[in-house]
Amino acid sequence: MNLLEMKNVTKHFGGLTAVSNVNFEIEKESITGLIGPNGAGKTTIFNLITGVYKVTEGKITFDGKDITNKEPYIIAEMGITRTFQNIRLFKKLSVYENVLTACQYNANYNLLEAMLYLPRCKNQEKQLKEQAEHLLEIIGLIDRKDFIANNLPYGLQRRLEIARALSLNPKLLLLDEPAAGMNPDETAQLMNLIYDIRKKFNLSILIIDHHMDLVMGICEKIMVLNFGCKLAEGTPIEIQSNPKVIEAYLGVEG
Ligand SMILES: Nc1ncnc2c1ncn2[C@@H]1O[C@H](COP(=O)(O)OP(=O)(O)OP(=O)(O)O)[C@@H](O)[C@H]1O
Ligand SMILES: [Mg+2]
Repeated sequence: MNLLEMKNVTKHFGGLTAVSNVNFEIEKESITGLIGPNGAGKTTIFNLITGVYKVTEGKITFDGKDITNKEPYIIAEMGITRTFQNIRLFKKLSVYENVLTACQYNANYNLLEAMLYLPRCKNQEKQLKEQAEHLLEIIGLIDRKDFIANNLPYGLQRRLEIARALSLNPKLLLLDEPAAGMNPDETAQLMNLIYDIRKKFNLSILIIDHHMDLVMGICEKIMVLNFGCKLAEGTPIEIQSNPKVIEAYLGVEG
């Protein structure tokens, strides 16, 4: 059963075709990789799925519903969240505050209830604080909850972004180069974390990354993009031995 389906999706930026007629499916509770050379259109695919960019042609379906060109907040509420290639955190807030502000999106008390600090608001705040701490535990940052986000090493900032993305209880989590800037040890730990997240949250994960050990080690299926077109799709073994992929990407990077 597919969680996400892209049908003949194309994105033009003026005269440039960033994504060209892409067909792609993500299965429920799967880990899928999206790889390809710089400028191939990978991040653009994330931006199309999350509604940040409007699709020029084609259709995107999520959980059986058409989400093509819906507003980003609606798509996030429906269950697709993401991290960014360029980390986006509240840099001057603490680790805990970063996650709590994301969790607060789940609150459903109104302004009056908040101003009067009525019991419903009080109870929900307690639950949101518990959720934030729980996420920090899972992500391995509970010991640093009072650190200022900007002072965390790069790899841990990426983990914090994942905790924020998980706060909305997504069914599909999109990770844009989560291992960028990580050393091999940190990358191995990230692989374990990604497995853990899938198991604990029963969600699907789509990962863009240039670290082939991570992508090949963790993904059940991989799509390769080149100049906006789908070049290949298959298991890590199929992708690694595909001559077109080796020529266009792996031969250069790997
Ligand atoms: N908002 C935009 N306006 C114009 N062109 C864009 C825009 N966003 C992306 N592009 C172009 O679309 C193409 C694909 O870019 P994209 O960022 O999706 O590549 P990528 O595969 O994520 O590359 P990288 O591995 O470097 O992150 C590039 O030529 C890029 O310059
Ligand atoms: Mg990118």
